[in-house]
Order: sequence, then C-alpha cells, then structure tokens
Amino acid sequence: MEQARTGFVDRLQVVVLIENSPAYDTYLEGCFGLSLWLELWTGATCRRVLFDVGPRADTLARNAEALGVPLNRVDAIVLSHCHFDHTAALAGLLKSMGRPVPVYGHPDLFRSNFVLSPEFMDYAMAGENSRPSLEAKGARFMLSTSPVEPFPGLMLTGEVEHTTDFEEQGGVSCFTIDGNGATVPDRLQDDVSAVVNVRGLGLVLLSGCGHAGIVNIAKQARKVSGGRDIAAIVGGFHLLQASAGRHEQTVRALRGIAPGMSVIAPMHCTGLQASALIAREFPEAFRELHAGDRVAFTASGAAKGVQG
Ligand SMILES: [Fe+2]
Ligand SMILES: [Fe+2]
Repeated sequence: MEQARTGFVDRLQVVVLIENSPAYDTYLEGCFGLSLWLELWTGATCRRVLFDVGPRADTLARNAEALGVPLNRVDAIVLSHCHFDHTAALAGLLKSMGRPVPVYGHPDLFRSNFVLSPEFMDYAMAGENSRPSLEAKGARFMLSTSPVEPFPGLMLTGEVEHTTDFEEQGGVSCFTIDGNGATVPDRLQDDVSAVVNVRGLGLVLLSGCGHAGIVNIAKQARKVSGGRDIAAIVGGFHLLQASAGRHEQTVRALRGIAPGMSVIAPMHCTGLQASALIAREFPEAFRELHAGDRVAFTASGAAKGVQG
C-alpha cells in the first residue's frame, strides 16, 4: 500500500447536516443517511469539505441553511461509498451550486448495487446520479483505491485492508453484477473513510457506513497516517445486524487500537444495541451525534455544541 503524506490541521469543526434523527431541541429534518460538514482550519486558511451528502438534496439544503453552513463554498466532496443514503443528494447539490467541484471516492462507486430481500431495491448511484450526469453538473471525480490527501491534514483511507477475523465484509446483503453478467454478493470494496490529523490531538476518523468493519478501518487510518494515535471515531459503524459477539469483539479491539480515544460517536447504521454497549464501555468518550450537532477538535480536545 502506498504511504500518503500527512499534514496537520489546527482545528477541525464537524457539523452534522444529515443523520437518521435530529439533535435534541432542534427542528431540523431527520433523514435516513449521513452527511458531515467539515471545516479544516490551518492558520487563517479554512478548507470546507462535505463527507457524504445524504439521500435528499432538499433536506441537505434546508438543514444547512438552518445551521448557517455555506454549502456553496464547499472545496471538495468525499463519497464514502455508493449507497444512496450517502450519495443521492449529489445531483441536486451540484445543480444548485452550478460550478465544478472535486469529488473523491473509490473507482467502483458506479457499479450496480442492490438488495433482493425483502424485495429488490436499488442502492446504487444511477439515473441523475450516474457518472455522466454528475460530470455534466460539475463533478470532477478523483477516484482512487490508494490513500490520498486532498488537503494537508485530510487523508482518505483508500480501499481498506481486511485484517480482522470477526468483521464480515459488507455487513449488508447487497449484490452486484460481475463481468460475466452474474448476480454475486457485493463486498462493498468501495468503502473509504476520512482521517483528519489534528495538531497536538491526533487522528479524527470519520466513517460513512463502516462496511469495511470499524476495526479494519481504524487500523487502516493509523497505517495511512504513519501510525499516529486515534483521538476520535465519528460516523457509521454498521453493527446493526451484527451479533452480540461481534459487538464485544469490536469494543475490545478498539480499546487496543485507540487506547487514548477521547471521542467515540457511533451514528446512523451502528444500531441501538451496539451504541448502548459502546456508551457503557467508553463512558467518558461516548457522544451521541445527530443532525444539528457540532463538535470541534483542537489540541486541547473536543468540544461539543448543539444548534439551538
Ligand atoms: Fe448508510
Ligand atoms: Fe451503506
């Protein structure tokens, strides 16, 4: 695996634009999916990045406006994987911006992807979110299986190596069509995560659905950053359908990989049981994050604020 260069940011601000539910005492829209607004500050320079866009452009725009987030100033968009609940707002977002935007992700983003049970449902990037349609609206795709660093201090993991023996890959019964036209299980190889290196704090790991397994992802985050310590994990852990045994193994492994972790925020597709276990096992670090929540990471730690 290629080693990415790793810069720093002085401060990372995360604003949750889309999550399954809104934060307490907010009047934002909950919406199945995930979208995180990242502001990466280095000195007086701010890079604005959207990590996933959620499923609905209208919800994204309304929540962003209510939160004072200037979506049209985004410098780059990262898509964690193909699933509609993370990507389907992209066409509408690009249309509203009317300018070119770099979009990072894995080269397999545009393959077919669907579930067959309880009935067929398309999870893929298709229709107005097909590649030609998005490119016509301004998307400039930067797709890579290797780790990349779009801005100093922001790394993308690239394709995640599967090194644990208890994290089944995918974690959802998705299928794709292979080169022979056969319907085969889709192992969600396109699952990539973002890693922000905060000066004096460590790594803040942001996962979309976590299909590659949150432990595999955490190991990959350390690897692409040259072994730096993980200070925070935020995003989807995809443990919704996982066994209680895997929940326990996950907690144990995270303790070993990230012993100094000060924030762990399981969201979106983590599931109530796994989230409850994480809350119990990491009582100091556990944070509940929903649409409207903000967390800032600096050398002095993490501070959570909630939009009133
Ligand atoms: Fe998801
Ligand atoms: Fe997903």
